[in-house]
Amino acid sequence: MPAHVAIIMDGNGRWARRQNLGRIEGHKQGRQAVETVVDTCREVGIAYLTLYAFSTENWQRPVTEVRALMALLQRYLRSERQHMLEKNIRLRAIGDLQRLPVPVRAALEEIMQATQANTGLTVCLALSYGAREEIVQAARVLATAVQNGQLDPGDITEQAFARALWTTDIPDPDFLIRTSGEFRLSNFLLWQSAYAELYVSETLWPDFTRAEFLSALEVYQSRERRFGRTTEQRGSPPDLARATRG
Ligand code: FPP
Repeated sequence: MPAHVAIIMDGNGRWARRQNLGRIEGHKQGRQAVETVVDTCREVGIAYLTLYAFSTENWQRPVTEVRALMALLQRYLRSERQHMLEKNIRLRAIGDLQRLPVPVRAALEEIMQATQANTGLTVCLALSYGAREEIVQAARVLATAVQNGQLDPGDITEQAFARALWTTDIPDPDFLIRTSGEFRLSNFLLWQSAYAELYVSETLWPDFTRAEFLSALEVYQSRERRFGRTTEQRGSPPDLARATRG
């Protein structure tokens, strides 16, 4: 099993259009798929699940859609709080959380606090998230530390850089799924996905079922992960600071 699965949940709008519904109905249906995937991760023992729920670029969508997504997120947080506590789920979030509406941010922070000691599945929501922005802010953190004399430029290693990212203590994703047949990363976990296995499903996110998730995990299990080494050498992920690229 992958320790960390990351998902680009795409296709809510197209799903809605095919049903002659408004885009927001697609997002509502997408929430059901979120719940299915969270339950399946718990069931099969995946430790981390990162969901791309709202990108930096998504702020440019029509204001009604942005509002509806934020309201949906708030309802999700409110209604899933108890479930997360009961099921030992830890909630995390990555992104420019300051941009979120205050009630959403407050709900998020409260649940992250309430679930921080949980030891089961970690659900990480990427909200107002952009990987380039994340990398730029990490560079800023490190530059400030150098400027303050707390860090030597020679100590800026891949590990030090990774620690300055929003994902700081979350392991890199092993398996990255994108739904709706698009072959793009769309500014998602660009640093962290260096060695992730990629899987593109033609299914639109609201139709993504437990059965399809399980079959995607089987595909993952059939992949040979070499991390730049040969088949004979393959094993665990490399120490990126010392790895030979390939
Ligand atoms: C992409 O589909 C999806 C989003 C921008 C939002 C994802 C949100 C959810 C799945 C809703 C619930 C999430 C949580 C965490 C409660 P799209 O709108 O770009 O689809 P399209 O490409 O077909 O237009």
